[in-house]
Amino acid sequence: MSDTDIPVITVDGPGGSGKGTITQMLAKKLGWHLLDSGALYRLTALAASRANVALDDEPALVKVAAGLDVAFEPTPPGEPVKVFLAGDDVTAEVRTESCGDDASKVAVIQPVRDALLQRQRDFRIMPGLVADGRDMGTVIFPDAPVKIFLTASAEERAQRRYSQLKDAGVSVSIDALLEEIRARDERDMNRSAAPLKPADDAQVIDSTGLSIEEVLDRCMAAAGQA
Ligand code: DC
Repeated sequence: MSDTDIPVITVDGPGGSGKGTITQMLAKKLGWHLLDSGALYRLTALAASRANVALDDEPALVKVAAGLDVAFEPTPPGEPVKVFLAGDDVTAEVRTESCGDDASKVAVIQPVRDALLQRQRDFRIMPGLVADGRDMGTVIFPDAPVKIFLTASAEERAQRRYSQLKDAGVSVSIDALLEEIRARDERDMNRSAAPLKPADDAQVIDSTGLSIEEVLDRCMAAAGQA
């Protein structure tokens, strides 16, 4: 069986669009595997910081990305996928705002992206894969039969992140979050290496004002599984 016979649903979009929860729900509903590609960029940033590698030291970052010792463990939808770096549970550490920000910086470096490419394609195993990221439909799985681009307004994404952090007992200002979200969008969309944009054949779903169940229904319909 060639890889292209193994079904893939790609879900791309900006952070806070609900992709993480939706892809977990889709994978669970379909009984398919899940790729959280953002975690690989976050892990690269974290492993670099542990090895005292600066975020602009390209050759060293490429080595870090190529040599990542990572493992993922599925969790119920809504809980972050468990992530291990060299055997350590770093689930909480990789989800911090600062790790996300560093991830967005290492993600602009094309050779780092190249070093992570095959690792991502290796997730394509039977019975199927749901792939969460920024370039799943455009670069990593361009032949995927179902491509979804999930988006939401920056204000709504800031509000969702604010509620999550508040529930976790972290106090932040919503204005600061909105500013960070805008800066990260800007960097992800305007970089030359695999910029965040919908694939030509992607179905765009705007989750602004929708409940997670409504978004899931739309995604299942887009995947022809409604
Ligand atoms: O989805 P996330 O917030 O975990 O992603 C963290 C950063 O990694 C994001 O700002 C951009 C980058 N990223 C990427 O460039 N390509 C991907 N496929 C996934 C994430």
